[in-house]
Formats: sequence, C-alpha cells, structure tokens
Amino acid sequence: MKALILVGGFGTRLRPLTLSQPKPLVEFCNKPMMLHQVEALAAVGVDHVILAVSYRAELMEQRLMKEGERLGVKFTFSFEEEPLGTAGPLKLAQKYLCQSADPAEPFFVLNSDVICQFPFQQMIEFHRAHGREGTIMVTKVEEPSKYGVVVYDEATGLIDRFVEKPQEFVSNKINAGLYIFSRSILDKIPNKPTSIEKETFPLMVQQGNLYALELHGFWMDVGQPKDFLTGMCMYIANSPSACATPDGDAGKSADGGVGTAITSSLVHPTAKIGRNCRIGPNVVIGPNVVIEDGVRIRRSTVLEGSKIREHSWIDSCIIGWRCHIGRWVRMESVCVLGEDVNVNDEIYLNGCRILPHKSIGESQPEPQIIM
Ligand code: GDD
Ligand code: MG
Repeated sequence: MKALILVGGFGTRLRPLTLSQPKPLVEFCNKPMMLHQVEALAAVGVDHVILAVSYRAELMEQRLMKEGERLGVKFTFSFEEEPLGTAGPLKLAQKYLCQSADPAEPFFVLNSDVICQFPFQQMIEFHRAHGREGTIMVTKVEEPSKYGVVVYDEATGLIDRFVEKPQEFVSNKINAGLYIFSRSILDKIPNKPTSIEKETFPLMVQQGNLYALELHGFWMDVGQPKDFLTGMCMYIANSPSACATPDGDAGKSADGGVGTAITSSLVHPTAKIGRNCRIGPNVVIGPNVVIEDGVRIRRSTVLEGSKIREHSWIDSCIIGWRCHIGRWVRMESVCVLGEDVNVNDEIYLNGCRILPHKSIGESQPEPQIIM
C-alpha cells in the first residue's frame, strides 16, 4: 500500500528548531516526528511513502533512506516548484499513487505534524466497508476554530458539512489530518495549487463521497511549541515505557543518581542524570544529555547532546540540540532554544525564542525572540 505525507513548507511556527532540522526530523518524544507516522504505516503494510515537499530536502533524504531500509519502506520525494497547497501535491504525485496493479487499492494521506495512536488498520476496514471515495479521521477538541470542522451522521459516518477554520461555532469535531482515499479522488483535483479542505472536501461532501471515522485516544497537531509540549504530555501519558521511579532516597534509581526522582518521563538510556534531581512529570530527555546535580525539570523536552548544570530549574521549555545551560538558571513559559545555545549561570528566561548558536548573558523577563 502507498501513503503520501504532506510535508510542505519550512515549519516556521516551530522555529528556531526548524532552522537546524526540517520539521519532520525534529525529535518528538525521542523520535523524528515523521518516524512515528512511518512506523505506524509500515505496521499495516505500507511499503511506499511519497513525501510531498515544496523545498529541497537533501538532509531529509539521507536520514530517511536509512530508516526506510530498516522498515522495508521505499521513500519517494515529490518536489513542487511552487507550493501546491494540500490537494495539489496529490495530483502531482498521481503517477506514484497509481503505480500498484490493483486499481481498487486505496492510499493514505497524512498531515505531517499530527501525533496520535494512528488507527490505520481501522481506517482501511471502515473505508472498504462504506466503499465510497474518502474517509477522514475526526477528533473532538475544545477550540475547533483553528481546525477544519466536520458535521456528520454518527451512525453511518457520512459527512454533511466540512468547514475549514470557521468563524462561528459549527461543531467540536474536527479534521485530524489523517485520510484514506480511493484513486478516483485524483480526477477531482486540478493541476494547480488547490486546498483539500476548502475545495476538494466540500465537493466530495456534495456528492456523498466523504465519510468520517472518530479517533479514540489522544490527538495533537504538534506544529507549534505550545502544542508540541501539550502533545508530549499526552504521548507520555499513553506510553508504557515512561518511567515512574519512586523517590530515590532508598538508593540509586535506574535512571538517576542518589536522591533523584523521575516521574512520568522518557529518558534516553545514554543520558546521564546527577544526584538529587527532580525530573518530571512530563519530561523527555534525549540521547547523550547530561543533567548535573540538583536540577529540577518539568513539562519540557531536552534534545540530544545538551548539558544542564547544577541547580537549574526548567518548566515548559524545549531545549534544542547541544545547548549548554549554566548553573542556577531559571527558564519557563515555553522558552524554545535553537541548536547550540549557551545560557550563562544565574540567568532568568521567560517565554523566549533563542536562535541557534547564541550566547545569553543577560536575563530576559519578557517573552521575545533573541537573534
Ligand atoms: N507539499 C505541501 N505543499 N504540503 C503543504 C502545503 C503545500 O503547499 N501547505 C501545507 N502543507 C502541509 C503542511 O506541512 C502540513 O503537514 C499539512 O499540509 C497541513 O498544513 P498546516 O499548515 O499544518 O495546516 P493547519 O494545521 O492549519 O490545518 C490543517 O490541519 C488540521 C489538523 O491539524 C487542516 O487540514 C485542518 O483541516 C486540520 O483540522
Ligand atoms: Mg498543522
């Protein structure tokens, strides 16, 4: 089976991380974002993934080819000369999507920035059962106005209305960005920039060709820092491998030194955690990270190779690759540090975005971008 992932643009909302790595390669819970999707696709028999990109992606090609060998998945990059929106890329990739011998075989289409327990097998079965052109996954959210909203018959799944980013309340069920389509959808997409949400879906709804399947369990669009952290908490809550070591006073715990307590967190086995630390809940520690004694971290991600020195306090932040955080530093309210940022001892940072390779020598009590 085949799948197309809409990788699209430059991931500007996830800067400064995306200044060093394309968004799909940024590690979410210690795994490149896109690998969460590709592994789940491979598990239901997808053996060819088409990546729809609107920029040159050599870095991504190198990285993914290796993973492809491991998973038995072939990757093809479908490059757009100009951004083709969310439907145009399907038309551009028509020759790949229609390559398999069986014309009745459907294909998956995914937004690249969504995370959940991907219910791909269930999607295949539901799509086959109703036999029409498209199935989209829907999920319930509290703030539907940032998404595509769906009104449908809960008994059959038949969609009655699809409204992208409505101004007024329509429903709290939204498009989760995971689809499965039959080939005939490609005849409905013109050869030019086209929005699947604003053009293709309304047309399919009119013709009674679009069905909804409700997603159970957690779901998040992790394409911006605040939501990245919320999604991380949801993922950890659903991860059987998250550690919950009791207070380590009784001795050295599995992941930290004497007196260290780690709760509801994902700690890479190569990370080193000192004594008397409090890690968690909801922390992800990447490969080769070093955390010195007495550090307190909650609700944060620390990416590969970073070092946090003694007695620093970090809450709701994303620390990029190979950063160096000094002693007695305090960081909170969704600070995002790019690659190789250095923060001096005793600095306070509140909600700051810091570009790669910067050195911070002064406290920043107000949220701002430091270039
Ligand atoms: N190849 C390509 N070309 N991909 C694109 C382009 C393009 O021109 N424009 C956007 N994309 C990709 C993005 O990279 C992303 O993976 C996906 O298409 C959706 O674009 P976003 O920019 O993330 O849209 P959104 O989050 O505002 O809304 C979409 O996702 C919501 C769920 O998270 C819509 O599909 C909503 O209906 C949906 O509810
Ligand atoms: Mg998005």
